[in-house]
Amino acid sequence: MAGRSLLCVFLVFCLCAAVQCHDPVKINDFLFSGGFEFVDLSHPFDNDTVYWPGGRKFSFTKKVAMKNPHGVWYSANEFCAAEHGGTHLDAPIHFAQNKWTVGQIPIDNLITPLIIVDLSTKVAGNADFVLERHHMDHLFVGDPRRNFTVVFRFGWSQHYGNPTKYLGSSSPTGNNLNFPGISEDVAKWLTETRTLIGVGVDTPSVDPGSEHRGLAHKTFAAKNIFMLENVNLEKTLPSSLCTIIVMPMKIQDGTGAPCRLTAICPRTDVHNFF
Ligand SMILES: *[C@@H]1O[C@H](CO)[C@@H](O)[C@H](O)[C@H]1NC(C)=O
Ligand SMILES: *[C@@H]1O[C@H](CO)[C@@H](O)[C@H](O)[C@H]1NC(C)=O
Ligand SMILES: [Zn+2]
Repeated sequence: MAGRSLLCVFLVFCLCAAVQCHDPVKINDFLFSGGFEFVDLSHPFDNDTVYWPGGRKFSFTKKVAMKNPHGVWYSANEFCAAEHGGTHLDAPIHFAQNKWTVGQIPIDNLITPLIIVDLSTKVAGNADFVLERHHMDHLFVGDPRRNFTVVFRFGWSQHYGNPTKYLGSSSPTGNNLNFPGISEDVAKWLTETRTLIGVGVDTPSVDPGSEHRGLAHKTFAAKNIFMLENVNLEKTLPSSLCTIIVMPMKIQDGTGAPCRLTAICPRTDVHNFF
């Protein structure tokens, strides 16, 4: 009997190893082992936050900041802003009627493997750069097994503090912008990857600044793929080893929302870590 139960335990162990059982009790041991770093991919919301032209900028008003008569410090502020500014999420309904609002995007779509496609060397600071299929050879590896989010690094985050360079205009109107973006052709090609659920860029829009018809936006939105804009990609991160945690403010009917973006990445080469 003892032999048989040992065999059972052994079989369960093997089965577990084969199907990769996850012990829910161990996730914190794993995540907080020191082997991972949590990387902030959001720009701060303050007076310098970049908004889409015409959108209400982040206004932040001090309401109270004082000690009360009992010596207790109390401070509180109010803020007001357009949906589409700073590091934010575009819900599919932004460019496709009847598709998901911010509040309707399933939570499972907001925590996924992250693929980072680093094009900064190819872009080389050129605001006219439009991502075409031939730039993508050997670069893009989607994950056919799991839903995933892809973020394109055009090398634009370094210009975020200089809105004229970042937007491509000193008096931006929406019709005179210039910064890199994704062509309609690449957008269509990406949506053929059925497990793609989100697309991000380190520029103000997934469409190039010079594109006024929102062709990339429309293509992604039609497939209920959310978009992330003004992603802070100053750091170089591993291209396929991170997880992204997309936490937009849950504006239920929003077409977009400010977003706290975090990547969880291995600190060292994954082969050393395991
Ligand atoms: C932000 O702008 C407001 C309105 O112009 C101003 O009152 C406030 O002092 C500014 N805040 C900072 C931190 O510069
Ligand atoms: C991937 O996302 C789609 C769309 O939200 C969902 O229907 C599907 O269940 C997801 N698949 C996995 C494996 O999570
Ligand atoms: Zn937007």
